[in-house]
Amino acid sequence: MKILVTGGAGFIGSHTVVELDKAGFEPVIIDNLYNSNRGVLEGIKKITGKDFPFYEIDCNDTQKVRELFEKEKFDGIIHFAAYKAVGESVEKPLNYYENNLISLMVLLRAAQEFKVPNFVFSSSCTVYGQPDEIPVTENTPRKPANSPYGNTKAIGEDIIRDYVHAKSGVKAISLRYFNPIGAHESALIGELPNGVPSNLVPFITQTAAGLRKSLTVFGSDYDTSDGTCIRDFIHVVDLAKAHVKALELLDAQTETDFYDVFNVGTGEGYTVLELINTFEEVNGVKLNYTIGPRREGDVEKIYAQSDKVNNVMKWYAEKTMANALRDAWNWQLKITTQQ
Ligand code: WQD
Repeated sequence: MKILVTGGAGFIGSHTVVELDKAGFEPVIIDNLYNSNRGVLEGIKKITGKDFPFYEIDCNDTQKVRELFEKEKFDGIIHFAAYKAVGESVEKPLNYYENNLISLMVLLRAAQEFKVPNFVFSSSCTVYGQPDEIPVTENTPRKPANSPYGNTKAIGEDIIRDYVHAKSGVKAISLRYFNPIGAHESALIGELPNGVPSNLVPFITQTAAGLRKSLTVFGSDYDTSDGTCIRDFIHVVDLAKAHVKALELLDAQTETDFYDVFNVGTGEGYTVLELINTFEEVNGVKLNYTIGPRREGDVEKIYAQSDKVNNVMKWYAEKTMANALRDAWNWQLKITTQQ
Protein backbone atom coordinates (compact mmCIF):
# COMPACT_ATOMS: atom_id res chain seq x y z
CA MET A 1 0.00 0.00 0.00
CA LYS A 2 1.31 3.43 -1.03
CA ILE A 3 0.92 5.97 1.78
CA LEU A 4 1.25 9.74 1.51
CA VAL A 5 2.96 11.09 4.64
CA THR A 6 2.50 14.86 4.86
CA GLY A 7 5.08 16.48 7.12
CA GLY A 8 7.08 13.29 6.64
CA ALA A 9 10.38 15.11 7.24
CA GLY A 10 9.19 16.21 10.68
CA PHE A 11 9.74 14.69 14.12
CA ILE A 12 6.83 12.23 14.27
CA GLY A 13 6.49 12.01 10.49
CA SER A 14 10.06 10.81 9.92
CA HIS A 15 9.80 8.11 12.59
CA THR A 16 6.49 7.01 11.08
CA VAL A 17 8.05 6.72 7.59
CA VAL A 18 10.59 4.29 9.08
CA GLU A 19 7.89 2.20 10.76
CA LEU A 20 5.71 2.19 7.61
CA ASP A 21 8.63 0.81 5.64
CA LYS A 22 9.29 -1.85 8.29
CA ALA A 23 5.63 -2.90 8.09
CA GLY A 24 5.80 -3.28 4.29
CA PHE A 25 4.06 -0.04 3.31
CA GLU A 26 5.37 2.27 0.56
CA PRO A 27 5.71 5.79 2.01
CA VAL A 28 5.78 8.94 -0.14
CA ILE A 29 6.88 12.07 1.73
CA ILE A 30 5.68 15.62 1.20
CA ASP A 31 6.97 18.46 3.33
CA ASN A 32 7.47 22.20 2.79
CA LEU A 33 10.58 22.02 5.04
CA TYR A 34 9.27 25.00 7.05
CA ASN A 35 10.12 23.15 10.26
CA SER A 36 12.55 20.53 8.99
CA ASN A 37 15.38 19.94 6.52
CA ARG A 38 16.60 17.50 3.88
CA GLY A 39 19.10 16.03 6.33
CA VAL A 40 16.16 14.17 7.91
CA LEU A 41 15.62 12.39 4.57
CA GLU A 42 19.27 11.30 4.68
CA GLY A 43 18.72 9.91 8.17
CA ILE A 44 15.67 7.96 7.01
CA LYS A 45 17.71 6.57 4.09
CA LYS A 46 20.55 5.48 6.41
CA ILE A 47 18.07 3.62 8.64
CA THR A 48 15.98 2.00 5.88
CA GLY A 49 18.49 1.83 3.02
CA LYS A 50 15.80 3.36 0.82
CA ASP A 51 15.31 6.65 -1.02
CA PHE A 52 11.57 7.28 -0.60
CA PRO A 53 9.92 9.67 -3.08
CA PHE A 54 10.04 13.20 -1.62
CA TYR A 55 8.18 16.25 -2.90
CA GLU A 56 8.80 19.71 -1.44
CA ILE A 57 5.16 20.75 -1.43
CA ASP A 58 3.09 22.98 0.85
CA CYS A 59 -0.18 21.22 1.60
CA ASN A 60 -1.99 24.54 1.17
CA ASP A 61 -1.01 24.56 -2.52
CA THR A 62 -4.05 22.95 -4.13
CA GLN A 63 -2.53 22.82 -7.60
CA LYS A 64 0.68 21.10 -6.48
CA VAL A 65 -1.25 18.66 -4.28
CA ARG A 66 -3.61 17.73 -7.15
CA GLU A 67 -0.69 17.25 -9.53
CA LEU A 68 0.85 14.85 -7.01
CA PHE A 69 -2.38 12.87 -6.66
CA GLU A 70 -2.58 12.65 -10.46
CA LYS A 71 0.94 11.27 -10.52
CA GLU A 72 0.90 8.90 -7.51
CA LYS A 73 -1.98 6.53 -6.71
CA PHE A 74 -2.29 6.56 -2.91
CA ASP A 75 -4.01 3.92 -0.75
CA GLY A 76 -3.83 6.12 2.35
CA ILE A 77 -2.76 9.46 3.80
CA ILE A 78 -1.21 10.22 7.17
CA HIS A 79 -1.50 13.96 7.74
CA PHE A 80 1.12 15.37 10.10
CA ALA A 81 1.92 18.66 8.34
CA ALA A 82 0.82 21.55 10.58
CA TYR A 83 2.22 24.38 12.66
CA LYS A 84 2.49 23.11 16.23
CA ALA A 85 4.01 25.72 18.54
CA VAL A 86 1.43 26.47 21.24
CA GLY A 87 2.92 29.83 22.24
CA GLU A 88 3.35 31.01 18.63
CA SER A 89 -0.25 30.10 17.90
CA VAL A 90 -1.42 32.53 20.61
CA GLU A 91 0.59 35.33 18.95
CA LYS A 92 -0.38 34.46 15.34
CA PRO A 93 -3.79 32.75 15.46
CA LEU A 94 -4.77 33.44 11.84
CA ASN A 95 -1.54 31.85 10.56
CA TYR A 96 -2.45 28.73 12.55
CA TYR A 97 -6.10 28.54 11.55
CA GLU A 98 -5.26 29.22 7.92
CA ASN A 99 -2.29 26.88 7.61
CA ASN A 100 -3.58 23.97 9.68
CA LEU A 101 -7.19 23.95 8.50
CA ILE A 102 -6.84 24.95 4.83
CA SER A 103 -4.14 22.30 4.32
CA LEU A 104 -6.39 19.70 5.93
CA MET A 105 -9.28 20.57 3.60
CA VAL A 106 -7.04 20.59 0.53
CA LEU A 107 -6.00 17.03 1.37
CA LEU A 108 -9.53 15.88 2.16
CA ARG A 109 -10.79 17.21 -1.16
CA ALA A 110 -7.94 15.48 -2.97
CA ALA A 111 -8.60 12.22 -1.12
CA GLN A 112 -12.23 12.31 -2.21
CA GLU A 113 -11.48 13.32 -5.82
CA PHE A 114 -8.77 10.72 -6.28
CA LYS A 115 -10.55 8.01 -4.25
CA VAL A 116 -7.97 7.53 -1.52
CA PRO A 117 -9.85 5.35 0.99
CA ASN A 118 -7.89 5.84 4.22
CA PHE A 119 -6.99 9.02 6.17
CA VAL A 120 -5.13 9.21 9.51
CA PHE A 121 -5.12 12.59 11.27
CA SER A 122 -2.54 13.82 13.77
CA SER A 123 -4.60 15.20 16.65
CA SER A 124 -3.62 16.01 20.21
CA CYS A 125 -4.57 15.61 23.87
CA THR A 126 -4.85 19.39 23.95
CA VAL A 127 -8.47 18.88 22.82
CA TYR A 128 -9.19 17.83 26.43
CA GLY A 129 -7.96 21.11 27.91
CA GLN A 130 -7.67 20.62 31.70
CA PRO A 131 -9.80 17.48 32.14
CA ASP A 132 -12.02 17.14 35.22
CA GLU A 133 -10.99 13.52 35.55
CA ILE A 134 -7.77 11.69 34.67
CA PRO A 135 -6.76 9.48 33.05
CA VAL A 136 -8.73 10.74 30.04
CA THR A 137 -10.67 8.38 27.80
CA GLU A 138 -11.91 9.14 24.28
CA ASN A 139 -15.29 9.91 25.89
CA THR A 140 -13.84 12.53 28.21
CA PRO A 141 -15.57 15.70 27.10
CA ARG A 142 -13.41 17.96 24.96
CA LYS A 143 -12.89 21.42 26.39
CA PRO A 144 -12.12 24.72 24.72
CA ALA A 145 -8.48 24.29 23.79
CA ASN A 146 -5.91 26.36 25.66
CA SER A 147 -4.50 27.70 22.40
CA PRO A 148 -5.34 28.32 18.74
CA TYR A 149 -2.99 25.41 17.97
CA GLY A 150 -5.07 23.07 20.12
CA ASN A 151 -8.24 24.50 18.62
CA THR A 152 -7.05 23.67 15.09
CA LYS A 153 -6.80 20.04 16.23
CA ALA A 154 -10.32 20.05 17.72
CA ILE A 155 -11.81 21.77 14.65
CA GLY A 156 -9.80 19.45 12.41
CA GLU A 157 -11.38 16.43 14.08
CA ASP A 158 -14.86 17.90 13.55
CA ILE A 159 -14.15 18.67 9.88
CA ILE A 160 -13.02 15.08 9.29
CA ARG A 161 -16.00 13.59 11.18
CA ASP A 162 -18.51 15.59 9.12
CA TYR A 163 -16.62 14.91 5.87
CA VAL A 164 -16.61 11.13 6.46
CA HIS A 165 -20.30 11.14 7.38
CA ALA A 166 -21.08 13.07 4.19
CA LYS A 167 -20.27 9.90 2.27
CA SER A 168 -16.94 11.17 0.97
CA GLY A 169 -15.91 7.56 0.50
CA VAL A 170 -12.92 8.16 2.79
CA LYS A 171 -12.54 6.30 6.11
CA ALA A 172 -10.64 8.17 8.85
CA ILE A 173 -9.04 7.90 12.28
CA SER A 174 -7.88 10.76 14.52
CA LEU A 175 -5.01 9.92 16.85
CA ARG A 176 -4.81 12.10 19.96
CA TYR A 177 -1.13 12.25 20.90
CA PHE A 178 0.08 12.95 24.40
CA ASN A 179 3.68 14.08 24.82
CA PRO A 180 5.95 12.54 22.17
CA ILE A 181 9.60 12.36 23.28
CA GLY A 182 12.81 10.55 22.36
CA ALA A 183 14.43 9.64 19.05
CA HIS A 184 15.24 6.63 16.89
CA GLU A 185 17.68 4.29 18.71
CA SER A 186 20.17 4.77 15.84
CA ALA A 187 20.39 8.51 16.65
CA LEU A 188 20.01 9.09 12.89
CA ILE A 189 16.66 10.89 13.25
CA GLY A 190 15.11 12.76 16.17
CA GLU A 191 13.55 16.04 17.25
CA LEU A 192 14.92 19.16 15.52
CA PRO A 193 13.24 22.14 17.19
CA ASN A 194 13.70 25.45 15.39
CA GLY A 195 15.22 28.13 17.67
CA VAL A 196 14.56 27.98 21.41
CA PRO A 197 12.62 24.77 22.17
CA SER A 198 9.24 25.28 23.83
CA ASN A 199 8.89 21.58 24.65
CA LEU A 200 10.42 20.11 27.78
CA VAL A 201 12.69 17.32 26.55
CA PRO A 202 14.57 19.15 23.79
CA PHE A 203 15.14 22.00 26.23
CA ILE A 204 16.53 19.50 28.75
CA THR A 205 18.88 17.84 26.24
CA GLN A 206 20.11 21.20 24.93
CA THR A 207 20.76 22.36 28.51
CA ALA A 208 22.60 19.14 29.36
CA ALA A 209 24.65 19.57 26.17
CA GLY A 210 25.64 23.09 27.26
CA LEU A 211 23.67 24.87 24.52
CA ARG A 212 21.34 26.46 27.13
CA LYS A 213 22.43 27.77 30.51
CA SER A 214 19.63 26.28 32.58
CA LEU A 215 16.16 24.76 32.38
CA THR A 216 13.32 26.57 34.12
CA VAL A 217 10.70 24.24 35.58
CA PHE A 218 7.43 26.09 35.09
CA GLY A 219 5.81 25.91 38.50
CA SER A 220 6.13 23.65 41.54
CA ASP A 221 2.90 24.59 43.30
CA TYR A 222 0.53 22.31 41.40
CA ASP A 223 -1.62 19.73 43.17
CA THR A 224 0.71 16.81 42.40
CA SER A 225 3.18 14.62 44.34
CA ASP A 226 6.07 17.05 43.88
CA GLY A 227 4.18 20.16 42.79
CA THR A 228 5.17 19.95 39.10
CA CYS A 229 2.85 19.13 36.20
CA ILE A 230 1.98 15.59 35.16
CA ARG A 231 2.17 14.42 31.54
CA ASP A 232 1.99 11.18 29.55
CA PHE A 233 5.41 10.99 27.89
CA ILE A 234 5.31 8.54 24.96
CA HIS A 235 8.32 7.34 22.94
CA VAL A 236 8.09 8.73 19.41
CA VAL A 237 8.79 5.27 17.93
CA ASP A 238 5.85 3.77 19.83
CA LEU A 239 3.73 6.66 18.58
CA ALA A 240 4.93 6.03 15.01
CA LYS A 241 3.89 2.38 15.28
CA ALA A 242 0.38 3.44 16.29
CA HIS A 243 0.00 5.05 12.85
CA VAL A 244 0.77 1.75 11.15
CA LYS A 245 -1.85 0.06 13.32
CA ALA A 246 -4.35 2.80 12.48
CA LEU A 247 -3.83 2.26 8.73
CA GLU A 248 -4.25 -1.50 9.16
CA LEU A 249 -7.48 -0.95 11.10
CA LEU A 250 -8.82 1.42 8.43
CA ASP A 251 -7.89 -0.95 5.63
CA ALA A 252 -9.87 -3.70 7.33
CA GLN A 253 -13.06 -1.58 7.52
CA THR A 254 -15.79 -2.37 5.01
CA GLU A 255 -17.99 0.59 6.08
CA THR A 256 -16.83 3.48 3.87
CA ASP A 257 -18.10 6.01 6.43
CA PHE A 258 -15.93 4.66 9.25
CA TYR A 259 -14.54 7.33 11.61
CA ASP A 260 -13.01 6.86 15.06
CA VAL A 261 -10.77 8.59 17.59
CA PHE A 262 -8.01 7.04 19.72
CA ASN A 263 -5.87 8.30 22.59
CA VAL A 264 -2.28 7.29 21.97
CA GLY A 265 -0.45 7.46 25.27
CA THR A 266 1.37 5.10 27.62
CA GLY A 267 -1.43 5.26 30.19
CA GLU A 268 1.07 6.45 32.83
CA GLY A 269 1.61 9.97 34.12
CA TYR A 270 4.92 11.32 35.37
CA THR A 271 5.77 14.72 36.80
CA VAL A 272 8.28 17.09 35.24
CA LEU A 273 10.67 16.51 38.16
CA GLU A 274 10.31 12.72 37.83
CA LEU A 275 11.27 13.08 34.17
CA ILE A 276 14.26 15.25 35.04
CA ASN A 277 15.44 12.77 37.69
CA THR A 278 15.07 9.88 35.23
CA PHE A 279 17.00 11.83 32.59
CA GLU A 280 19.88 12.40 35.04
CA GLU A 281 19.90 8.77 36.19
CA VAL A 282 19.80 7.03 32.80
CA ASN A 283 22.33 9.37 31.20
CA GLY A 284 24.63 9.95 34.18
CA VAL A 285 24.42 13.71 33.76
CA LYS A 286 23.53 16.49 36.17
CA LEU A 287 20.95 18.90 34.80
CA ASN A 288 21.09 22.60 35.60
CA TYR A 289 17.57 23.73 36.44
CA THR A 290 15.67 26.17 38.57
CA ILE A 291 12.05 26.35 39.63
CA GLY A 292 10.24 29.30 38.07
CA PRO A 293 6.69 30.59 37.83
CA ARG A 294 3.90 28.64 36.12
CA ARG A 295 3.61 28.93 32.32
CA GLU A 296 0.36 30.51 31.13
CA GLY A 297 -2.02 27.95 29.63
CA ASP A 298 -0.31 24.86 31.04
CA VAL A 299 -2.59 21.98 31.96
CA GLU A 300 -1.89 20.81 35.53
CA LYS A 301 -2.12 17.09 34.88
CA ILE A 302 -3.18 14.83 32.04
CA TYR A 303 -2.44 11.31 30.95
CA ALA A 304 -4.21 8.77 28.77
CA GLN A 305 -6.43 5.85 29.55
CA SER A 306 -5.22 3.74 26.63
CA ASP A 307 -7.58 0.74 26.83
CA LYS A 308 -9.24 1.55 23.51
CA VAL A 309 -6.06 1.67 21.41
CA ASN A 310 -4.79 -1.42 23.26
CA ASN A 311 -7.96 -3.46 22.75
CA VAL A 312 -9.06 -2.30 19.30
CA MET A 313 -5.71 -1.81 17.55
CA LYS A 314 -3.67 -4.22 19.69
CA TRP A 315 -1.15 -1.36 20.04
CA TYR A 316 0.78 -1.10 23.29
CA ALA A 317 3.49 1.28 24.42
CA GLU A 318 6.60 -0.92 24.40
CA LYS A 319 9.27 1.61 25.37
CA THR A 320 9.68 3.36 28.71
CA MET A 321 10.24 7.00 29.54
CA ALA A 322 13.82 5.99 30.46
CA ASN A 323 14.33 4.50 26.95
CA ALA A 324 13.04 7.72 25.42
CA LEU A 325 15.29 9.94 27.54
CA ARG A 326 18.35 7.88 26.69
CA ASP A 327 17.49 8.01 22.98
CA ALA A 328 16.83 11.75 23.19
CA TRP A 329 20.23 12.29 24.82
CA ASN A 330 22.09 10.12 22.28
CA TRP A 331 20.42 12.11 19.51
CA GLN A 332 21.36 15.43 21.11
CA LEU A 333 24.99 14.31 21.46
CA LYS A 334 25.00 13.30 17.80
CA ILE A 335 23.64 16.61 16.47
CA THR A 336 25.73 18.68 18.88
CA THR A 337 28.96 17.04 17.72
CA GLN A 338 27.86 17.54 14.07
CA GLN A 339 27.37 21.32 14.59
C1 WQD B 1 5.44 19.68 29.23
C2 WQD B 1 5.60 20.08 30.67
C3 WQD B 1 5.59 22.44 31.07
C4 WQD B 1 9.29 23.40 29.00
C5 WQD B 1 2.65 20.43 24.05
C6 WQD B 1 1.47 20.67 23.16
C7 WQD B 1 0.75 19.38 22.88
C8 WQD B 1 1.71 18.35 22.38
C9 WQD B 1 2.88 18.18 23.32
C10 WQD B 1 1.59 18.21 19.97
C11 WQD B 1 4.68 21.23 31.08
C12 WQD B 1 6.93 21.83 31.43
C13 WQD B 1 8.21 22.70 29.52
C14 WQD B 1 10.21 24.01 29.89
C15 WQD B 1 8.95 23.18 31.75
N1 WQD B 1 2.17 18.70 21.09
N2 WQD B 1 8.06 22.59 30.88
N3 WQD B 1 10.01 23.87 31.25
O1 WQD B 1 2.74 21.82 26.85
O2 WQD B 1 2.45 19.40 27.65
O3 WQD B 1 2.18 19.95 25.28
O4 WQD B 1 3.50 19.47 23.49
O5 WQD B 1 0.74 17.42 19.85
O6 WQD B 1 -0.23 19.64 21.91
O7 WQD B 1 0.57 21.52 23.82
O8 WQD B 1 4.45 20.04 26.30
O9 WQD B 1 6.88 19.86 26.54
O10 WQD B 1 5.84 22.18 26.34
O11 WQD B 1 5.54 20.87 28.44
O12 WQD B 1 8.80 23.07 33.00
O13 WQD B 1 11.21 24.67 29.50
O14 WQD B 1 6.93 20.54 30.87
O15 WQD B 1 5.20 23.40 32.06
O16 WQD B 1 4.24 21.00 32.40
P1 WQD B 1 2.91 20.36 26.62
P2 WQD B 1 5.75 20.78 26.85
